[in-house]
Amino acid sequence: MMSDATPTPTPTPVPTVDGHPMRRGGCPFDPAVGLAELRAEHPVARMVFPDGHTGWLVTGYDEVRRLLTERRMSSRGEILRSPIPLPMASSGMAIPPGMFTAMDPPEHTRYRRQVASWFSARRTRTLEPWMTELVDRHLDAMLAHEGPVDLVEAFAEPVAVAAICELLGVPTDQREEFGKAVQALFTVHSSAEEAISGWQNIGAVLARLVRTKRAEPADDMLGTLAAGGDLSDEELATIGSVLLVAGYDTSLNMIGLGTFALLEHPQQYAALAADPEGLAPKAVEELLRYLTVVHGGAIRAAGEDLEFDGHRMAAGDAVSMSLAAANRDPALCADPDRLDITREPVPHLAFGYGIHQCVGQQFARLELRIAFERLAARLPELRLAVPAEQVRTRAEMIIYGVHELPVTW
Ligand code: HEM
Repeated sequence: MMSDATPTPTPTPVPTVDGHPMRRGGCPFDPAVGLAELRAEHPVARMVFPDGHTGWLVTGYDEVRRLLTERRMSSRGEILRSPIPLPMASSGMAIPPGMFTAMDPPEHTRYRRQVASWFSARRTRTLEPWMTELVDRHLDAMLAHEGPVDLVEAFAEPVAVAAICELLGVPTDQREEFGKAVQALFTVHSSAEEAISGWQNIGAVLARLVRTKRAEPADDMLGTLAAGGDLSDEELATIGSVLLVAGYDTSLNMIGLGTFALLEHPQQYAALAADPEGLAPKAVEELLRYLTVVHGGAIRAAGEDLEFDGHRMAAGDAVSMSLAAANRDPALCADPDRLDITREPVPHLAFGYGIHQCVGQQFARLELRIAFERLAARLPELRLAVPAEQVRTRAEMIIYGVHELPVTW
């Protein structure tokens, strides 16, 4: 006999993804293949991490945002697992005092507070003339050559390096050393030894610098923190290293990949060139959302057993949150896969969310705004010097972008 009760729908089993999707499809600006389908059907899925652990991959905007403010999610470095097979992840390196990115409150709060005051919107506004001069100086140097030039080498990299180094107070002659070290840290191609020695080289540059700042007070960021007297030499050197690493590759790749995206949407580049000052702030927000260069996303671990949207996460489960997938969620904005630099800014997650949200975001916004504003104002004729398919993207790096961008004008 048939029952007339409505049958309970069989829940679709949650799929398990083997590793964080990294491979890009036809459009170099779209998130990795497979993320959009997961977000649509399973915004919370299981994922096997490179070390064999089965944790979670979260791709929905609302889900990622809620998890980033979930106090039971931990950022403690000792229990985090990398979603990407990075050499550093398997090195077993201890978390040094001062590495607040890998800490929970109250330690996180204590360190972050000291750094955050330096990055306030008010202080950042005063840096505008300095940033404009810095960007123009590098454009002058680039324009002294005949095109084609590699825009990454001639503009994005020197601007990003100079900006963060001048902010912190790193002398010019030490900049090249740490640029190489950051690249070794952030690629899946270097060995654990190369990555550790990269991190140690950055630490050595910063340790020397801290000793100098203690001896000769300076009004740059490290000098001021050193004068405050609350932090040990080791803590200061680590905080400096964290800021250098976090603030350099991200901005560099936003400038490189952002320019590529604009040149591949020539009408939008022309609109920016016609009204650089007016449109640059919106263009920056849209490029941050559309490109989400931190494509490995945010990593956390469940600090205790918890239930999230019907899923049982056990204490210690690793959780990888795809900011790139979340920023293309139709729940965030209309037509999310379209780049539209005239769009009213939306609350994207390109800088993360919650207590670890990017502490340098106002500084990054200033840098990007001036970089795109001055580039479009001074080079309205800018165009790619090679077919777009020949531009090599950085799918294998922790920060997405382009290896080089040949341009001419
Ligand atoms: C376009 C450029 C940038 C992007 C896209 C970006 C993105 C992000 C994201 C997504 C996070 C959150 C990570 C998480 O929750 O696990 C973050 C955190 C952070 N960012 Fe940025 N960032 C940028 C520029 C900068 C700059 C210029 C600095 C410093 C000068 C900086 C310093 C930091 C630090 C220190 C953290 C950790 C904050 C904490 O743990 O409390 N970032 N950034």
